[in-house]
Amino acid sequence: MDRILWGGATSASQYEGGFTDGKGMDTQDCRPYLPRTSDATTATRLLTKKLIEEAKDPSSDKFYPFRKGTKGYEYGLQDVDLFKELGLDLYRLSISWSRLYPTGEEEIPNEKGVEYYDKIIKKLHENGIKIFLTINHYAMPLAIVEKYRGWTNRKTIDLYMRFSKFVMAKWGDLIDFWLPFNEINAGYFSPFNGVSLVKNENKDYAYNDVFLSLHNQFVANAKTVKLGREMNLPGKFVAMVSCFCYYPLTPSPEDNLELVKDEQINQWYCMDILSRGEYPYYAKPFFKKHDVTFEISEEDRRLLKNNTVDIVSFSYYSSSICTVQENSSQTAGNLVVTTKNPYLKASEWGWQIDPIGLRNTLNKVYDRYQKPVIVAENGFGAHDKLDNGEIHDQYRIDYFKEHFDQIIKAKEEGVDVRAYMAWGIIDIVSAGSCEMDKRYGVIYVDADNEGHGSYKRYKKDSFEWYKNFINEQRSKNKE
Ligand code: BG6
Repeated sequence: MDRILWGGATSASQYEGGFTDGKGMDTQDCRPYLPRTSDATTATRLLTKKLIEEAKDPSSDKFYPFRKGTKGYEYGLQDVDLFKELGLDLYRLSISWSRLYPTGEEEIPNEKGVEYYDKIIKKLHENGIKIFLTINHYAMPLAIVEKYRGWTNRKTIDLYMRFSKFVMAKWGDLIDFWLPFNEINAGYFSPFNGVSLVKNENKDYAYNDVFLSLHNQFVANAKTVKLGREMNLPGKFVAMVSCFCYYPLTPSPEDNLELVKDEQINQWYCMDILSRGEYPYYAKPFFKKHDVTFEISEEDRRLLKNNTVDIVSFSYYSSSICTVQENSSQTAGNLVVTTKNPYLKASEWGWQIDPIGLRNTLNKVYDRYQKPVIVAENGFGAHDKLDNGEIHDQYRIDYFKEHFDQIIKAKEEGVDVRAYMAWGIIDIVSAGSCEMDKRYGVIYVDADNEGHGSYKRYKKDSFEWYKNFINEQRSKNKE
């Protein structure tokens, strides 16, 4: 079996900044920073017409953290030097759609944007760091949302294909793994992030819009896989979902049935389609129950069937609990809310720390799809303290140690794990709460929630630890 590649990951909107230089405004650029209360965390995960209008107003005095990111657009090449020093086998980055196509409809991509990615991708390649490219990580050109209602419209598939075709033609020889969409199941549990739906001020997202948008993303995914294979690209095609490792709150049959249902729609639905090429049996009754009425053509069904992915991947941060009981005590997870698990500790943001849950998930995903598996995101979001140029983040080292141990055990158990990527390998803006204070990196960036700071980079204690770990893994595999 191939050895595990140890890597790190970022996304364009959370990392790059570089809001000018020809980039168009995207959906993440419209999210202001709001001081954290549990309400504010939820409020920042929405896109409403009002928020869009405020974001477009040049006189708005709000701070929009994604417009600054952690200045990867400026520091990108220096950051690659740090990744090299760290010894990363693999780096996951995403391309900002609106940096290349400001409104999504341009015939020719923005030259400055192309130059930026060209230098980063080439430098990674020259330094022997493999590349995992997310074509689209949440953000979408705002113009597509306003003009076409985003993914609810099939026109968006064509616009996405213009973007993905350019990216594949330009950098196709240098990319090892292609991910057309980050955490595609977010379209269901976080429709703003996943499928860029604007929430009606007083109404929930309509299920028909959510599942239609997801269907259009499945079609775009399959068309990208098809095109990439026709172009004979050397890279493998990957699909990704966010995994929650569900446990029942009690051994009651009702809680266990609830778990099966939650898993189906929240976790497996999108991967079943992208990896097996068919809508699962549970989709039809679910659609009926929730008034999902859009039609799926035979042509789309064939396309999905013939263009499934090579590799399955997931993000994993914490486990969750399912129950039919009302009033169980709640805590936060990745863009979701769950019941507290008395056996687990949690991060300051309430995400429950469960390394064994990662091994459990690796086994389940491999068992279900029988394809190589990649952990596309995992890590520990915490407040870090910069102290005389040093950051002592033993808690992050502990988190890594415990999770890596479980990954290695899963591999020994026979799971074909190919790669692991530490999320936010360099500090970036939080996607869930727009904060800078929630840091994941082994590299610290000196910036605060309101965008003040030098943006200088510092190595945390976890940098040295991860570097040694990667080195050891490499030597072990040479023995
Ligand atoms: C995943 C996303 O959902 O979780 C990332 O793909 C995100 O973009 C990560 O940053 C961690 O979430 P948060 O809210 O802590 O940034």
